[in-house]
Formats: sequence, structure tokens, C-alpha cells
Amino acid sequence: MALQTHIRFSLLLLIASLLSAAVSAATTISPGSSLSAANLNTTWSSPSDTFSLGFIPSDPPTSPPSYIAAISYSGGVPVWSAGAGKAVDSGGTLQFLQSGTLRLVNGSGATLWDSNTASLGVSSAEITDSGNLVLRNGTVTVWSSFDNPTDSIVPGQNLTVGKVLRSGLYSFKLVKNGNLTLLWNDSIVYWNQGLNSSVNTNVSSPTLGLQSIGILSITDPKLSTAAIVAYSNDYAEAGDILRFLKLGSDGNLRIYSSTRGSGAITERWAAVTNQCEVFGYCGDMGVCSYNDSNPVCGCMSLNFELVDPKDSRKGCKRKMKTEDCPQNLTMLDLVHTRFLTYPPETETQIFFVGISACRSNCLVNSVCDASTSLSDGTGLCYYKTPGFLSGYHSPAMSSSSYIKVCGPVIPNPSSSMGTGDKKKDWKLRAWIVVVVVIATLFALMALEGGLWWWFCRNSPAFGGLLVDQDVDMDQVKRAIQVTFWCIQEQPSHRPMMGKVLQMLEGITDIETPPGPRAAIEGSAGGTSMNVSTDITTLSATAASAPAPSSFSSVHVSGVSPLTSGRNTEKATASLIQSSSLKKQVSYAPSERTEIIKTSKCF
Ligand SMILES: *[C@@H]1O[C@H](CO)[C@@H](O)[C@H](O)[C@H]1NC(C)=O
Ligand SMILES: *[C@@H]1O[C@H](CO)[C@@H](O)[C@H](O)[C@H]1NC(C)=O
Ligand SMILES: *[C@@H]1O[C@H](CO)[C@@H](O)[C@H](O)[C@H]1NC(C)=O
Ligand SMILES: *[C@@H]1O[C@H](CO)[C@@H](O)[C@H](O)[C@H]1NC(C)=O
Ligand SMILES: *[C@@H]1O[C@H](CO)[C@@H](O)[C@H](O)[C@H]1NC(C)=O
Ligand SMILES: *[C@@H]1O[C@H](CO)[C@@H](O)[C@H](O)[C@H]1NC(C)=O
Ligand SMILES: *[C@@H]1O[C@H](CO)[C@@H](O)[C@H](O)[C@H]1NC(C)=O
Ligand SMILES: *[C@@H]1O[C@H](CO)[C@@H](O)[C@H](O)[C@H]1NC(C)=O
Ligand SMILES: *[C@@H]1O[C@H](CO)[C@@H](O)[C@H](O)[C@H]1NC(C)=O
Ligand SMILES: *[C@@H]1O[C@H](CO)[C@@H](O)[C@H](O)[C@H]1NC(C)=O
Repeated sequence: MALQTHIRFSLLLLIASLLSAAVSAATTISPGSSLSAANLNTTWSSPSDTFSLGFIPSDPPTSPPSYIAAISYSGGVPVWSAGAGKAVDSGGTLQFLQSGTLRLVNGSGATLWDSNTASLGVSSAEITDSGNLVLRNGTVTVWSSFDNPTDSIVPGQNLTVGKVLRSGLYSFKLVKNGNLTLLWNDSIVYWNQGLNSSVNTNVSSPTLGLQSIGILSITDPKLSTAAIVAYSNDYAEAGDILRFLKLGSDGNLRIYSSTRGSGAITERWAAVTNQCEVFGYCGDMGVCSYNDSNPVCGCMSLNFELVDPKDSRKGCKRKMKTEDCPQNLTMLDLVHTRFLTYPPETETQIFFVGISACRSNCLVNSVCDASTSLSDGTGLCYYKTPGFLSGYHSPAMSSSSYIKVCGPVIPNPSSSMGTGDKKKDWKLRAWIVVVVVIATLFALMALEGGLWWWFCRNSPAFGGLLVDQDVDMDQVKRAIQVTFWCIQEQPSHRPMMGKVLQMLEGITDIETPPGPRAAIEGSAGGTSMNVSTDITTLSATAASAPAPSSFSSVHVSGVSPLTSGRNTEKATASLIQSSSLKKQVSYAPSERTEIIKTSKCF
């Protein structure tokens, strides 16, 4: 009996496994199959339904509706699309032809994209559970979506040298030396990140990958361990989560995570922290700035208007072209604003000139369209020749920019660009200054009046103090001479308080104090000497400060500048400490008189 049950049970298991094999066999796509944009419910799915290939509505939605053929994660998060997001109408299809090629065709029969695998003997296709669409000749993979990425990378997918992620004009690449770069229009590098500086070897064939736990890293045969590029902020956290890397249409590269089935994504890391530093984010002649938390695009002044009033990211254009007003060209001044300049465009356009020349030289130079004075201590001024201009405005930025416009300048009404409210601000400040000055004058007058009244009330005669017979004229003369000694600019020339008392009492003679010119010369020489002494003291202290030798010797040489920097910091800190210690010392009363006598007057 027991044996029979056992055999029956085994048979059931066998049938079940055969059935499941049949189901998974159904996930293999045979030539001749196709998907239609008219029926969004038919998809090609991976064995466990984690990923599926099918048509989804374009995002943002269009009118009339359009669709893209995409591989989506459970819940509907696209990670790859046929033809890098080429949209079709509702008559569009994705066809897996008998020839073995995969083709995206629109309602009028035009081919928008082809996998170009017609001559490779492809006999089947499949979506794997890691999200890879593979075309196979027998068991050999001849084409895969992992090798032909669009804008995203999922765990298990490798980005090698030569492969590119694209989104609009933006692209992301891994360079042969292991650097990661973000480019605008395949020319301007606005983000370039090298391998961790502790990696002191030249890589041979680097590969970028995202681990499923959320670590973006570069592997290479020359590297013993993977060089980590970034951790997603939810790395290694539990849950049925897909993490993926995506180049957005805003030109930023991010790691997102999505919980299975939710269809929602959460940003976990961004390559460019400040979105306004993404070149061209606000289009040509657009200016990027932040409202409370989001980057917003706008025009520089009312001399400009949006190219597309419905989409501020499309940029701005001059209402009147500069060619049309050769007699009335003027510079629009933009405070706290810079025109982004990234390699390779910088080299020929950098000048070392001051802020006024940066503005006026551009105005008279016919090939200069705009300029930026960095005003950050570098002394640099960038000229921008006619071409794409990408502006960035931030109240925290020191740079000032100038752009040619046809006069007169019409500032933006709201203060977002910083030009509108400047006058009001200035007026308010002037008022405050006037009020404070008048109030101070009144206070002083009241005080003097009070003093005058007090003195007059106390003095029997109304005669002036110097005129009074009781005053010793000699004492007054001595006091004035002592004052001259005490206001010597050179501290070493000033007498000790003890001597001052003796001079006032007439115990010692008072010499004629040195003239002002001699004093100035003396002070200049003295100051420079003081400074140099200070520097030698500081560097001597820095050099003699106990170097953390046991610590730095384990480190590679590349770290040494940092260590010496720390040394200086330590030395400075100890100097500050010792001086503040001195201040805290208290003196006994007998010592105090001695200190007063031996201290300098004033
Ligand atoms: C697609 O599926 C949804 C629910 O999953 C259903 O409401 C809809 O009718 C289906 N459409 C077609 C064309 O089958
Ligand atoms: C199909 O694509 C072709 C070529 O891009 C285009 O001319 C045609 O208008 C498109 N048809 C539809 C219905 O979108
Ligand atoms: C398909 O694979 C077989 C066996 O590996 C090979 O002989 C054949 O040449 C391949 N077909 C093409 C078109 O590459
Ligand atoms: C990605 O790269 C790793 C190591 O570099 C390798 O083991 C793995 O097979 C690669 N994956 C694919 C899909 O090529
Ligand atoms: C992108 O570069 C090409 C030349 O490489 C140029 O013709 C095109 O105008 C550029 N696009 C923009 C928006 O500047
Ligand atoms: C690689 O990136 C670093 C910055 O991390 C940069 O200094 C270096 O110039 C880059 N190398 C190349 C060849 O772009
Ligand atoms: C470089 O890697 C070392 C060790 O792997 C690590 O301690 C250091 O923080 C990394 N530096 C940066 C800038 O990531
Ligand atoms: C890397 O390559 C550069 C130039 O090819 C060479 O100067 C340098 O020594 C190499 N570094 C290492 C660690 O091999
Ligand atoms: C900031 O800009 C975003 C995007 O334009 C907008 O949705 C948001 O309402 C703005 N916030 C404020 C406080 O203006
Ligand atoms: C030229 O510019 C000045 C101020 O910049 C303005 O007052 C004047 O109206 C402009 N003239 C013309 C013809 O636009």
C-alpha cells in the first residue's frame, strides 16, 4: 500500500515537473511571433514573470497616443526599449521574423528599428529572469539586449568600453582608462570621474556593473578587487527590490530602486549632485536655478523669450537678434550667474582679465557673445563665442556673467535672476544708513549737552578749563607730549606705563617724540619683519610637530600631501591652543601692578 502511494506521488511530481517545463518552454519565443501596440496585454515574459517585453504608452503621454516596445520590470518599470525609445502609433508591431531578426514597424509599415540578425541563423528568442532579451542560434547567444543597452543597466548586465547609454543629447560612457564620463551632444564632458586614487594600476579592459545589492563598481583583470564607484543609499537592504542604473533625459545618471510589482521607482544615487551643472539642462540660452528644492529653467531677462512656452527646458531666444541692432548693442549684467564651460571648449576661451574688462572686451569683440568672470580667486574670465549657452544662477555663487542684447535692458520682473530687486534693496539700505547716522548724531549731541550742563553746574565760574588760573600749564604740556609718545605707530617706540607715570609727574624729562614719517617707515619695516618671523615660527613648529610616521609609512606615497596638510593643521591648532591658554592665566595683585607698569601705554 505504502509503496503504491509512493509511486503515485512520484508520478504526480513527474507530471508536475513536465508541466512546468512546458510552461517555461512557452517563454521561448519562436520566429514568426509578434507583439502589437493595439493590445498592451500580450507580452513576452521571463520564466518567473520578473521581466516582460511588450508595448507601453510613451512617457510623457502624447496625443494621439504613442507606444514604445520595452522590457519592463514587474510592475511596469522599463529598463530597455527597442530602437532606444522610438515611438509608434497604435498600429505598430514588434515582429520576430522567420529570418531571425527582430523588427519594430509602425502603422504605415515603416521599419523604425532592426536587430540586424537575419543572417546569424537565429532559431529562438527569450527574455531571461535577469531581464536580458537574447536571440539564439541553437544554444549560442548571437545577440542580446544586455550587449545593446539603451539608457539603463540592470544587475548582471555589463557596460564595457565602447558601449554607450543614451538619452536625448546625453550619453554615458566607460573610457579605456577606467574613467566614467557624461557627455552632451557627444562633445562636452560635464562629468568625468576617475578610479579611486588608491587604485595605482593601469586597467586593461574595465567593466562597469551594478551589483543587485546596489553597489556600482568597476572590475578589471588587473584589479584584485572591484573598484567601487558608488553605493546606492539603500545598498544591501533587504526586500524584493530591483536596483538599476539609468541615464535620465535630464542628463543625470542615477541608481533607482523599485519594489517588485509596485511600478514605482525611488532615486538612490545621482552622479551630478547639482542638476544645474548638467550642461544644457535648460536648453540654449536658458538659465538653471533652484526654487525651494527643484531645479527650474528660465530666461535671463525680458530681452529673451522661451522657445517653447510649454517646456522651459527647450531654452530661450533673443526677442531681437544682435545682428539687427549693431548700433545699440549692450551687455546684460547677470550677478551670481555663470555660463557653464566644460572640456573641450575651455582652452581657447580663457583670459586672465578683471571683471570690467571681462564685460567690456566682450562687448567690443564681434566673436564674443557672452562672458563670465569667475570672481572665485582664479582671476579667470571665459568668453563664449556664438553657439550653445548653458547658464547657471545661484545666490551662493561669486561669478558674474554678461551677455550681448539689443538695448535697452529689460530685467525680469521677479527677483529670481537677481537683477530686479537690486535697486529696491539699495534704497532700503540707504534709508537704514541715514536713520542710523542721524540717531547716532542725536545721541552724541545729547551726551555732550548733558556733560556740558554737568560741568557748568559744578564749576563756580563760567570760565573755560584752559584758561583757568588753577590749571598747571606745565602739566598740560607734559600730558600732550606724553600723548604723542603713546600714539606712536611703532609699538616698540611707546613707553612703558611706569615711565608714563614718571613723565606725567615730571620726575623724568620728556624727549621730543619722532616725526610721523619716521614712524611710518619704521612701522613698515617692522611689520614685514614681524610677518616673516611669524611664518618661520609657524613652519618651524609645523616641521617639528610629531609626524604620524607609523601611520603614514603604511600608506602609499600618494597620500603624503594630505598627511602634511594635516600636520600644518595640527600645528596651527596647537598654536591657537597655547595662545588661548596664555589668556587664561590669572595674576596675583602684586604682580598686577608690575604688569601694568611694564605694559605699553595704549
Ligand atoms: C487587458 O487587461 C486588463 C486587466 O488586466 C483588462 O481590463 C483589459 O480588458 C484587457 N484588455 C484586452 C484588450 O485584453
Ligand atoms: C511611420 O514612420 C515613417 C517614417 O518615420 C513616417 O513617415 C510615418 O508617418 C510613420 N507613420 C505613422 C502612422 O506614424
Ligand atoms: C548556427 O550555429 C551552428 C552551430 O553552432 C553553426 O554551424 C552555424 O553556422 C550557425 N549559423 C550561422 C548563420 O551563423
Ligand atoms: C559581466 O562581467 C562579469 C565579470 O566581469 C562576468 O562574470 C559576467 O559573466 C558578465 N556578464 C555578462 C552578462 O556578460
Ligand atoms: C551637436 O553637434 C553637432 C555637430 O557635432 C552640431 O551640428 C549640432 O548643432 C549640435 N547640437 C546642438 C543642439 O548644438
Ligand atoms: C579621469 O578622471 C579624473 C577625475 O576623476 C580626471 O582628473 C582625469 O583627467 C580623467 N582622465 C581622462 C583621460 O579623462
Ligand atoms: C578608495 O579606496 C579605499 C580603499 O578601497 C577607501 O578607503 C577610500 O575611501 C576610497 N577613496 C575614495 C575617494 O573613494
Ligand atoms: C600607467 O600608464 C602611464 C602611461 O602609459 C605610465 O606613465 C604609468 O607609469 C602607468 N602606471 C602604472 C602603475 O603602471
Ligand atoms: C519649484 O519648481 C517645481 C518644478 O517646476 C514646481 O513643481 C514647484 O511647484 C516649484 N516650487 C515652488 C515653491 O515654487
Ligand atoms: C538703444 O538703447 C537705449 C538704452 O540702452 C534705449 O534707450 C534706446 O531706446 C535704444 N534705441 C533703440 C533704437 O532701440
